[in-house]
Amino acid sequence: MYAVRHKAIASNPVDGVDFSANSAQGRNRRHHPLTAEQVAAVAASIGTRHPREPGDRVQLQRIVTRSQLLTSNLQHPGAITLDICPPSWSQPRLSCHRTRVVPTGRTSERRPTSGMEVAGAVTTDTLQPLNGRRSTTVSSIVDPARSEICLVAILKVGADGASEMISSAPQSDYDPYTDEALLDPWLGYKRLRDAGSAVWLTRYQMFALTRYDAVRRALLDWECFPSRYGVMMNDGMNRVLRGNTLCSDGADHDALRSVLVRPLKPRALRPAREEITAEAESLVEKLVEQGSFDAATELANHLPVEVVSNLVGLPEQGRERMLVWAEELFNCFGPINDRTIASFPVLDEMMNYATTEAVPSKLKPGSWADGIHDAVARGEVPSQACPAMMIDYIGPSLDTTISAISNAVWLFANNPEQWDLLRADPRLMPSAISEVLRYDSPIQGFSRYVARDVDMGGVVLPAGSRAIVFYGAANRDERKYPDPDRFDIRRRPGDHLGFGAGPHACVGMNLARLEMQALFTALAKRVRRFTILEEEPRLNNVLRGYKMLRVAVR
Ligand code: HEM
Repeated sequence: MYAVRHKAIASNPVDGVDFSANSAQGRNRRHHPLTAEQVAAVAASIGTRHPREPGDRVQLQRIVTRSQLLTSNLQHPGAITLDICPPSWSQPRLSCHRTRVVPTGRTSERRPTSGMEVAGAVTTDTLQPLNGRRSTTVSSIVDPARSEICLVAILKVGADGASEMISSAPQSDYDPYTDEALLDPWLGYKRLRDAGSAVWLTRYQMFALTRYDAVRRALLDWECFPSRYGVMMNDGMNRVLRGNTLCSDGADHDALRSVLVRPLKPRALRPAREEITAEAESLVEKLVEQGSFDAATELANHLPVEVVSNLVGLPEQGRERMLVWAEELFNCFGPINDRTIASFPVLDEMMNYATTEAVPSKLKPGSWADGIHDAVARGEVPSQACPAMMIDYIGPSLDTTISAISNAVWLFANNPEQWDLLRADPRLMPSAISEVLRYDSPIQGFSRYVARDVDMGGVVLPAGSRAIVFYGAANRDERKYPDPDRFDIRRRPGDHLGFGAGPHACVGMNLARLEMQALFTALAKRVRRFTILEEEPRLNNVLRGYKMLRVAVR
């Protein structure tokens, strides 16, 4: 079943661990990208004896530096897919990620540097879903002496049939994660939509779902497109967040979600509504008096940071970092690129806060976070789920709404006739909010593992592959929304996918809408026109919004 399917097998197979990249030191290090032949040869050397079951032992095949990895991954995306972890995950912490490293004589003797903590065989309980690719990484290790990410790459030869399915799917070398694409994704999305219901992104070895019907179907059909293997675009993050609400399915997910959603239901939010409305009114009054302000920071940050953090009940200590965490967390969701890698270190800080600060003795009594601990005490959710559930509140409750608010200001500044419509008829507010989220979805895309072969409008996605679900692209699908690139608050796009859909649809949507409604109602009373003075869009793998948006108001 695991027969090698690579066509080009090199005559000089790579022999076990490759030390060339690791032995080079410091600035003079020379990187030796893998050649296509080497990649094929490593795959061949693993060949038919491939780890299948948790607990199977496999030999390390290759240790590469991060830079070498990146080069190789980019040069031969069709042949090798590797995974990396943040430098802070030094060996002793690997166990947190269910990695067991069993030293073996052979590889230990061949340690490439004295600082290398780990060498040996890795057991396959670390195996991630293999994404239908021909290869994957079993584990990643770090050389703490140099804070250098080194990688243990175990190649996997894909199951029969998967590669045929992938090669017969529409292919694209488009990279939706370059700076240019993130800033202006629309034409790229259109090309992907036009290419098919699912398009294989050769660079990332994942499918892209960009049509409305395809994205919605993937979101609704959790058995075929489960979330428990993670919904991010890299295996490291998928391991870290596994087991939180976002990354779970079925009964486990129901149990976690029912606790999280309690304070976020419309009725439960009623007491908060007054506070949020009052805060919005006084903030807007102050900003309008100033005549100009930064809509991204002064306007958009206020409610999520001041009010929502209080409702969540987190201790003051460390709160000032929450905005950084939220933004970086979303960067960590991306496929492996420089932006993703640079953001990984923040995860440790965030998890540390969740485990040491967000604890019952420090949380505001009666707060949402405190409710999670109560649910643990009642046996509704397991205690191990606590830190991840804290992240469920901290991560998505800030920057998503902040982005949505700044996007809305930008859209109303650039479409003054739409602002006039809203001011003239406040009943358009719900539709206006939906249109903002459709037009410029704050979360552009997550992903889903494909659990079984599935036909998406004639394109077959093989079991084991991964598909990026681009909410942002689906919301601009001309097959669904006529003239999708026109911002029109009368459209009433209640079925937009900006909050997702299906079992994982956003639990915070009522709160997010409440915050937006409060701010834009207050603005509509006092502002006739927004004029953009200066803008700096945010560059983030997942979020779409503004880092800075200075506007004058009159
Ligand atoms: C405009 C603001 C927001 C947007 C655009 C947004 C978007 C989304 C999207 C697209 C998903 C679906 C993820 C998936 O398909 O796997 C989601 C899920 C989620 N959101 Fe939001 N969100 C927003 C605000 C919030 C707020 C304020 C909170 C918390 C108070 C929150 C908490 C969550 C949680 C916990 C999930 C996971 C739900 C589950 O897996 O069952 N979100 N959000």
